[in-house]
Amino acid sequence: MSWRFEYHETLGSTSDLCKARAEAGEPDHLAIQAFSQTSGRGTRGRTWTDPGGNLAISLLFRPADPTAFIAALPFVVAVSLFETATHFCPTATGPSPFMVKWPNDLLLDGRKMAGVLIETGGPQDNPWVVVGIGANLRQVPEVPGRRLAALSEKTDAPSAEVFGKALVAQIDRWNAVQEREGFAPVRAAWLARAHPVGSPLAVQGCETYITGSFSGLDAQGRLLLALPNGETIPVVTGDILLD
Ligand code: BTN
Repeated sequence: MSWRFEYHETLGSTSDLCKARAEAGEPDHLAIQAFSQTSGRGTRGRTWTDPGGNLAISLLFRPADPTAFIAALPFVVAVSLFETATHFCPTATGPSPFMVKWPNDLLLDGRKMAGVLIETGGPQDNPWVVVGIGANLRQVPEVPGRRLAALSEKTDAPSAEVFGKALVAQIDRWNAVQEREGFAPVRAAWLARAHPVGSPLAVQGCETYITGSFSGLDAQGRLLLALPNGETIPVVTGDILLD
């Protein structure tokens, strides 16, 4: 897959620029990367702090089968982040310090190292999908109340350009698996890199807070939460808090 990489020293938000390009009719496979952002956006209207030296990239897709592509995408990107971080951090022995957290956060030693913002739009016959990815490579942003980590805690972290190229190659690889074989192998790869089944967790919604334990992923990518009363419920959205 041939990507057009566009690099900027500083941008407000790579996703804002990528969405503007999508709306203006830009074809598939544009990657916009900035070496620092001044108004990075996170999920649920939060801000994404980017002090520079970290990865801030947004990818434009125009999928042929948007429904299957979008459903698998959070898991494709999470597995790709895990694989890329692992590649640059070959730990000698022992368990991996990385873990994916539903649906698409990457944790390092239990603290957030990367996050993903997926946005969609455009006409029904030619929809666009913009995937914005932020990964702390060399700097841990100062955000009160957040437990964050950077790859440089473990290794001599690569430049954002090198990490971004490697990540995009992984995303291409896992999207191809999804196109060829469907969601099942992506789901299996995600489960093998995630919090183990049985882990206690809490799901925080707008006004709700439910505790239980992780019981897997269903065929739609919904998190299965086992409740203390023995019931298991699918979770579509919410922040996951691990113990
Ligand atoms: C999250 O809240 O976990 C998602 C964070 C996504 C941040 C990235 S950085 C590149 C892209 N541009 C943005 O403004 N946001 C995303």
